[in-house]
Amino acid sequence: MIQTTGELNLPDAQATHELGCYLGKTLAAGTVLLLTGELGAGKTALVQGIGEGLGIQDSLESPTFTLLNEYDSGRVPLYHLDLYRLTPAEVTELYLEGYWDGTEAPLGIMAIEWCDRLPYRPKTYLSLTLTHTKTGRHLAWETIGNLPSNPFPLPVPPFQGG
Ligand SMILES: Nc1ncnc2c1ncn2[C@@H]1O[C@H](COP(=O)(O)OP(=O)(O)OP(=O)(O)O)[C@@H](O)[C@H]1O
Ligand SMILES: [Mg+2]
Repeated sequence: MIQTTGELNLPDAQATHELGCYLGKTLAAGTVLLLTGELGAGKTALVQGIGEGLGIQDSLESPTFTLLNEYDSGRVPLYHLDLYRLTPAEVTELYLEGYWDGTEAPLGIMAIEWCDRLPYRPKTYLSLTLTHTKTGRHLAWETIGNLPSNPFPLPVPPFQGG
């Protein structure tokens, strides 16, 4: 059975990291992740876990100032974007569709922070929304279109942290 929406509790930062590792190990090349969540919600922390799951040795820095960080040393390429400082018109000029359709760069996992800045979206993507709870975070996820692989085959493992 394909589950297209779901939610998870991430009690601490380690749980967020574990979820990222899981996604980094399982997501197929060509998957676009659109990350929503206020400042400090854990978007970058999650992508850092994805980097580890992909087997990338370098530490992943937040692309707040660089806009796009690219890592080619993992299982598949990782393109990590932060659109916080951009307007939708500036985002259009980045020609991101060339990344998500594989014409501009080899298909990889593209993780986009502040996806509300996107003037348009890919046909297929995994939406991840992080919100603060009392001490941890809550994650709601939704798949739009037919992803190259099912990101959360049942049963979804617990990400309990520690
Ligand atoms: N599940 C969690 N419970 C508690 N703290 C968490 C959890 N996940 C991440 N954190 C912590 O929250 C902070 C999140 O920072 P992070 O830079 O990832 O946020 P962000 O969403 O990328 O923010 P920005 O919009 O500024 O880029 C980090 O200090 C991280 O350790
Ligand atoms: Mg961030």
